[in-house]
Amino acid sequence: MKKIAPSLLSSNFSNLEKDIKMLEEGGADLLHIDVMDGHFVPNITIGPVVVEAIKEVASIPLDVHLMISDPDYYVDAFIDAGADYLTIHAEATPHVHRIVQKIKARGVKAGVSLNPHTPISVLGNILQDIDLVLIMSVNPGFGGQSFIPHSLEKIKQLKKMLIDNNAEHVEIEVDGGIKLENIKIVSDAGCDIFVSGSGIFKAENPKEMIAEMKLAIR
Ligand code: DX5
Ligand code: ZN
Repeated sequence: MKKIAPSLLSSNFSNLEKDIKMLEEGGADLLHIDVMDGHFVPNITIGPVVVEAIKEVASIPLDVHLMISDPDYYVDAFIDAGADYLTIHAEATPHVHRIVQKIKARGVKAGVSLNPHTPISVLGNILQDIDLVLIMSVNPGFGGQSFIPHSLEKIKQLKKMLIDNNAEHVEIEVDGGIKLENIKIVSDAGCDIFVSGSGIFKAENPKEMIAEMKLAIR
C-alpha cells in the first residue's frame, strides 16, 4: 500500500501535538521526522528527546530520517525514543552495512537514503538487508525546495534494480518538493512512500490535501 508521510519540519513546533492529531485525522500513514545536525547538513533540528515526546502523542508510526554525520553513535538513542523506521544516509558513514544490522537487530525498519548526486549503484550489496530506500529529490537541509526533475529517472532505475534483484520487499520513499501537482508522476515512477512538508502544511486545508494526495496515488 502506498503511504503518505507528512514531514513535521513544516509543522508548528510550538504545538506539535495539535499538528500531529490533525495529520492523523487527515489520514497520514507515517510521521516523517527530519533530524539534522548542522554538520552533515547546514541546519539543526531535533534530537531524541523531541522524538520521544512525539512518540507519546502519536498513534501512527514514526519515520525518522537521520541527516547526521556518524549515525552509528545515535541509532540506539533514536530507537529508544520510538523510531519505527530509521533511515541513515549512505554518504554519512563508511559503515552502512554494520549500522543497518544494528537497526534490524532492534526490530526497527532500516532505511538508506541517497543525496541527489549519489548513484543507486551504492546499494548493490545491501538491498537484501534493508527495508527502505529514501531517494532525496532535493538537497537535504531545508523544506520548501523544488523537486529535482532528474530524481524521476533515479526512482525508475531503483524500481528496476529492486525487481532485477528480487528485492521488491524494499519500499521506495521519495523526499523533497512533493506536491499534489507532481505526486502522480512520482508514484508512476515507482514511489511507495511520499514525504511532503510544505506541500501539506502550506495548503489551505492540510487534511483535505492529504486526502487529495491519497486519491492521486491510488
Ligand atoms: C529536507 C527534508 C524533507 C523536508 C521536505 O532535507 O528531508 O523531509 O521536510 O520538505 P518539502 O516537502 O517542503 O520539500
Ligand atoms: Zn526528510
